[in-house]
Amino acid sequence: MSAIRKIRRIGVLTGGGDCPGLNAVIRGVTKPAQDLGMTVFGIMDGFEGLVEGKARELRNADVSGILARGGTILGSSNKGDPFHWPVQKDDGIEIMDKSAQAVKNYEAWNLDALIAIGGDGTMHICNKLSQLGLNVIGVPKTIDNDLDATDLTFGHDSAIYVVSMALDRLHTTASSHHRVIVCEVMGRYAGWIALNGGLSGGADIILIPEMPFSWEKVYDKIKQRELMGKKFSLVAVSEGARALGEEMTTKGQDIKRTDPVRLGGIGEVVARNIEKNTGRETRVTVLGHLQRGGSPTPFDRILSTKFGAYAIDLVSRKKFGYMVALKGSDIKPVRIVDAILKQKLVQPDTQAVFAAKSVGISFGTE
Ligand code: F6P
Repeated sequence: MSAIRKIRRIGVLTGGGDCPGLNAVIRGVTKPAQDLGMTVFGIMDGFEGLVEGKARELRNADVSGILARGGTILGSSNKGDPFHWPVQKDDGIEIMDKSAQAVKNYEAWNLDALIAIGGDGTMHICNKLSQLGLNVIGVPKTIDNDLDATDLTFGHDSAIYVVSMALDRLHTTASSHHRVIVCEVMGRYAGWIALNGGLSGGADIILIPEMPFSWEKVYDKIKQRELMGKKFSLVAVSEGARALGEEMTTKGQDIKRTDPVRLGGIGEVVARNIEKNTGRETRVTVLGHLQRGGSPTPFDRILSTKFGAYAIDLVSRKKFGYMVALKGSDIKPVRIVDAILKQKLVQPDTQAVFAAKSVGISFGTE
C-alpha cells in the first residue's frame, strides 16, 4: 500500500476525547487538499467509523464557518480502538482485534492516506496501522498536553483559558467569604493543566501527579496565608494528583477503553481534609468537561490551522508515518514511532514550576 500513485483520496478522522481546535484542523486539511485535487473523506466517530465503515465526503461547504466551533463535526470516540474493540457478549464484554476490518475499509474506500487527529492513544493506533501498511499522518491534539514529541498540543491553551477564567471567578467569591476553594481540573497523569491554569489564574496551591504532596505542607500554606491576613486560598488540583504514599483517586474502570482508568474525585478529598485540618470553610468546584467544550482560543485556532496545512503538505510529499509537531515556533515532522515513546510529564525543575514557586505558589512539597 505504501508505494502509491498520485494522492487522490484521503481520509480524516478525530480520535479520542474531543477538544477545541479539532474543527479548525479538519478545515485546515480539507481546504488545501481540495485545491490540490484530492477528495477528502471524513470518517465518522474516530476509529469506530474506520472499523464500521462510516464516512462521508467533505467539501469546502462542509468546513466553511467551522474554524471557531468547538467539538468535531466528524464525531469522536475513545472506545473505538480497532486493536482493542469491545464486543458485548452474554457473559460480559469481550475485547477483539478488528484491525483487519479497518484495513479492509481503508482499501474499499480506495484511500491513499489517512490523517488521524488525536492524542496519545490515537498515535499508538496510528503506529500499528502504519505497520499494517496504511499511509498514516498523525496530528496531535489533547487538552492534557502530554505528548512528548511536540512542544504543545492544540486544545491545551483553550483548556487553561477556561481554568484561568474559573480561578479568577473563584478568587472573588473565595475572598468575599473567607473560604478555601479547591478547583479540580483534568489532565490525566500529567499536571500541565493545573500547572499552567493555576499559574495564569493565580492559584495559591497547585497539586499535580508528578509531585506527590504532603497534607501537612498544604495545611501549613493555608495557615501561613492566614497569618499574613489572607483568610482565603485557591487550590488548583489535577485529577491525577495524590498525596505521598497514597493512590490516585478514581471513579471506576471502563474496560471498553484502552486505558480503562477513570480519574476524578481528588478535589472533594482535598477540600474535606483542608476544612477538617485548618478549620477554614472549604468548597470544591470540578471543572470537568467545561475544559474540553466550546470555542478554541486564537492560539489554538492558529496552531490547528498550521497543523492541518502541514499534514496535507506531508501527504502531498508522500511522507507517511509522521506526526506533525510544534518545535519552537516551527511545525516539523516527527516519526510516529518516536512520538509515542514517552509521555510528556511535568518535571519538578521545569521553568513553570520555578516561576510558580518564585511567586509564592506551593506544590505541597516544600
Ligand atoms: O484526555 C482528555 C481528558 O479530558 C482527560 O483530561 C480526562 O481524564 C479524560 O479525557 C476524560 O475522559 P471522558 O470524557 O471519557 O470522561
